[in-house]
Amino acid sequence: MKQSDEQLFNPSQQVIDYANVKEYDNNYADSIANPLDFWEKQAETLEWTTKWDKVLDDSNPPFFKWFTGGKTNIILNAIDRHLKTANRNKLAIIWEGEPGDLRSFSYHALNREVCEFANILKAMGVKKGDIVTIYLPQIPEQLFAMLACAKIGAAHSVVYGGFSHEALADRINDANSRVVVTADGGFRRGKASNLKEIVNKALEHTPTVEVCITVKRTGVDVFMENDRDYWFHDLKSLPIAAAQCETEIMDAEDMLFILYTSGSTGKPKGLVHTHGGYSVYTATTHKMAFDIKPEDRWWCAADPGWITGHSYIVYSPLINGATIFLYEGAPNHPYPNRWWKMIEKYGINILYTSPTAIRGLMRYGESWPNKHDLSSLRLLGSVGEPINPEAWKWYYKVIGKEKCPIIDTWWQTETGGFIICPIPALPLKPGSATKPFFGIEVDVVTDTGEKTPVDEEGNLVIKTPWPGMARTVYQDPDRFKELYWQKYEQQGWYHSGDAARIDEDGYYWIIGRTDDVIKVSGYRLGSAEIESALMSHPAIAESAAIGLPHALKGYAIHCYVVLRKGYEPSPALEKELREHVGEMMGAIARPEEVAFIDVLPKTRSGKIMRRVLKAQALGQDIGDLSTLEE
Ligand code: WTA
Repeated sequence: MKQSDEQLFNPSQQVIDYANVKEYDNNYADSIANPLDFWEKQAETLEWTTKWDKVLDDSNPPFFKWFTGGKTNIILNAIDRHLKTANRNKLAIIWEGEPGDLRSFSYHALNREVCEFANILKAMGVKKGDIVTIYLPQIPEQLFAMLACAKIGAAHSVVYGGFSHEALADRINDANSRVVVTADGGFRRGKASNLKEIVNKALEHTPTVEVCITVKRTGVDVFMENDRDYWFHDLKSLPIAAAQCETEIMDAEDMLFILYTSGSTGKPKGLVHTHGGYSVYTATTHKMAFDIKPEDRWWCAADPGWITGHSYIVYSPLINGATIFLYEGAPNHPYPNRWWKMIEKYGINILYTSPTAIRGLMRYGESWPNKHDLSSLRLLGSVGEPINPEAWKWYYKVIGKEKCPIIDTWWQTETGGFIICPIPALPLKPGSATKPFFGIEVDVVTDTGEKTPVDEEGNLVIKTPWPGMARTVYQDPDRFKELYWQKYEQQGWYHSGDAARIDEDGYYWIIGRTDDVIKVSGYRLGSAEIESALMSHPAIAESAAIGLPHALKGYAIHCYVVLRKGYEPSPALEKELREHVGEMMGAIARPEEVAFIDVLPKTRSGKIMRRVLKAQALGQDIGDLSTLEE
């Protein structure tokens, strides 16, 4: 599929004149001629209490270390330094709840909230190096909790509020958390969720948890256990919640957070990110790709529970001193103009969201956005899955009025920040994430590591280390090596697990995952997790889960199951199985379809051949079946 005849979308002179970086090619060439210089320059724009000895320590690949010997804390840059400037009184956060309630915080007020939260955590015995699990809806306290952990040198593990009690318990146990922070619930589509009830179920299976702090949001009745459960507002009214708290000084390589994500096999793994390199990387990518200015009102409409939220809702916009806009609920509640109305109301300058959200809102037609003045927008962004040219063009024309470049950013939980993305000054091609970010080398190669010819599909690899890279899998360094570095061990490249091609102009086109990771509405799920949820149902002998293209969600989950003796296929059982997966993992993992079959295609060594199921479902050539058992 050749798309080099695709129309180029050039930025206006106004966009270029205003941009932080005005030209791509020369800047890129300079940045990779001496990447360590490039990254050092970026690091120098941030505050450190002790300067690093070395920009990159590559003595033990793939366990790269950045800015070693340097001391800082991401909070020094995200909050503390703003308190010493005029930023102190500007808005850090504007938040709108789904019912329409509004809260806003200046940097000064944000600091007070974070200090109080930090002191509460300390009073609950949280120490430097502990991992606090955070399971909250999209309310300001989610940010306060994350920032408070960072401030006192504890790491956070945020679990997406849509995950089930099983998924939550697994993550709490892997992290050995003593303290969990949650809320009674949040609002979505006019309904109050009951998060605390889910937490209570999870805590039946988490022996390490001693304290659970609950924020009151919805006011629903919840069960609180004596000596374990505390209301956040009660703790806040006590002297323990003092408004001053020192920021703990950390080594650059100290852990900032772990974030669990799905891989091709087994249980989700906790990827580790650190204070130093992650600060530099997220701040730089945000400043250059999204051209962020301190006067910007920035809206990243992701959930803070995923990497997009960590890097680009919470940390980088604060480091860059912008104003974050946050919204609690569904995009179409109560009407499909909710987002457009808020952009107009708050004068949002940059909107960053997923192709699924764009496609979802596109369904309702142009009349909804056209009712609103969207002229405050100057840039738009996309993340999480490939954006189809049709959605790109709608976003560009109807939302951006043909004046806002679309910053399509390819990256992963593992990369910490953008790897392939344009800067506003780069001409765009709808559906292409364009070119590598400064200071990193990327390529598309064959299984044996040769560069693929122009326009031919291959494996997307990252050839040089970058400051935002995950340092390891929590408590499992071997898995880190095996998952990302084994395939191109000789060359020392990072294997992304995505397929892509590069066109004759050097633009990258991301095709999708080559492994058993399924991107549903931009959310990352693993076939293995879905299968193990199915296997926990008494009717199931064997199962396979695959992703098939879906017009709205990008991909949807389709499952194939072999029943145990004594069970018969029926629509009722199918429904029950779909519900079962939803309950085990969370609503986003509920399969589109569960099909009953007699045998699963397997290799002679017993591995399920998901690609055969996929090819069959899509009516494609099944390919080489020489390893098929029968
Ligand atoms: C996919 C999300 C195409 C890709 C930040 C990657 C994308 C996976 C894009 C990581 C994009 C992310 N175009 N595909 N702009 N951005 N992906 O860890 O398959 O949740 O490997 O990080 O999302 O998902 P994760």
